[in-house]
Amino acid sequence: MPKTEEIKIKYKVFNRSDKINTTDELLLKNAENAVKNAYAPYSDFHVGAAVRLKNGKIVTGNNQENAAYSSGLCAERVAVFSAVSQFPTIPISAIAICAAKGKQKPTVPVPPCGACRQVLLEYEEYFKSPIKVLIRNGKTKKIIVIDSVADLLPFKFNKSFL
Ligand code: THU
Repeated sequence: MPKTEEIKIKYKVFNRSDKINTTDELLLKNAENAVKNAYAPYSDFHVGAAVRLKNGKIVTGNNQENAAYSSGLCAERVAVFSAVSQFPTIPISAIAICAAKGKQKPTVPVPPCGACRQVLLEYEEYFKSPIKVLIRNGKTKKIIVIDSVADLLPFKFNKSFL
């Protein structure tokens, strides 16, 4: 009989009454602000991401779509690539993500897509420093905090296979 294995991940849930630290609150605010500048004429799904570096610097990004659909890029990768291209030696400590449908307020909590998880994992391993992922639901004010991108990517693919 094959053995069934199980993978468990830990994450924190902050409800409306739970206070999040001011540094993370600021990062979430930056992600929500970044939603405004998304270029999403095709999906009308506007995503903002904010990356905090170990030196305290915050770099934001938003999704950039294209008439040739697959040429577009998610908010998370726009933010992360921008951050590491400007500060190639500074580890990333956290990323916050939020989204808005159409012209609504940025209330949609967005977990990073698979491709963005893969990109985040690359830098987590490169800098040997965990990247915290913060996802806030703007409606319920619930915040999900995952301490490391590796937790979001079981059976991860990395350079060890090359
Ligand atoms: N999108 C992101 O920017 N981040 C995600 O994590 C999920 C999806 C964007 C890509 C596309 O522009 C739009 O949202 C709809 O998929």
